[in-house]
Amino acid sequence: MFTENPLTPHIGAEIGGIDLKSGIPADLAQSLRDALARHQVLFFRNQHLDIEQQKTLTQIFGPLHQSSYVEALEGEPYVIRVLKEADEAGGTFGGNWHTDFSFLESPPAGSVLSAVEVPSVGGDTLWVSQAAAWDHLAADLRELLLGRDALHVGKPYGQKWAPSAETRSGASMKMLRGDPNADAEQRHPAVLQHPVTRRRMLFLNPTYVSRLDGMSEQESQPVLDRIQAHATSPEFCCRFRWTPGTVAIWDNMATQHFAVNDYFDHRRLMYRTTFSGPKPVDLAAARHAATGPDALTS
Ligand code: SIN
Repeated sequence: MFTENPLTPHIGAEIGGIDLKSGIPADLAQSLRDALARHQVLFFRNQHLDIEQQKTLTQIFGPLHQSSYVEALEGEPYVIRVLKEADEAGGTFGGNWHTDFSFLESPPAGSVLSAVEVPSVGGDTLWVSQAAAWDHLAADLRELLLGRDALHVGKPYGQKWAPSAETRSGASMKMLRGDPNADAEQRHPAVLQHPVTRRRMLFLNPTYVSRLDGMSEQESQPVLDRIQAHATSPEFCCRFRWTPGTVAIWDNMATQHFAVNDYFDHRRLMYRTTFSGPKPVDLAAARHAATGPDALTS
């Protein structure tokens, strides 16, 4: 049906032998969803999708999700333009480890990013497997996190954690900033269980998580720093070099990602759509609540 070339043992696969423009029948759509669950991020080169085709592709993974806080493309409420001009100073959109909009009550289940114009070198994106990170997490941290919530806030868009002017992404990305509502805490389990693979995975990221439940920000920070250092180990990462026309699709619950801001003097243009899915839950913890402690050991 298509070829699948893993980029690393833990995360990422390049999918070949497929033209995403020529219609995606139900059996192919199911195979792509399965491949995404296995690899957590998929890459398709030479696709050159237009906006309609990108939205159609996105919807085989879930209903289109409307991004808050980032202005949508005119006339396209579900599409954002990820752009940095060649002469733009400052940070880049997504230039820290993050999980897209994890501070929402229902964060997007995944994202689709389609490259239009990319630097000849630089502007790569990294993804890291939070399932692999969980599998190799130290026992004391597993014990601390299992069954515990984390509090997420929209730090880049609020007042309390507003980023400095130098680190903000530049003028090409139109964002709503300084909104006190973005500082409101949203609770999600620190550890999820994947609905398809049933693998456990960390659901924490430094861009949006402010603290662990039952702990202050000051108490949480050293623990979160230790977890994050582990959760972004190179062994659990893949790094992707973009070419024009490439499409990436990632599982937002199972990964963090990071856009590398190393392409000064080059323009980089992408379009991003996101899709909805079930709310982040730890299925095993839910089973535990219903049936007793054995469920928590899986
Ligand atoms: C994002 O965080 O969605 C943007 C990633 C990128 O531009 O590589």
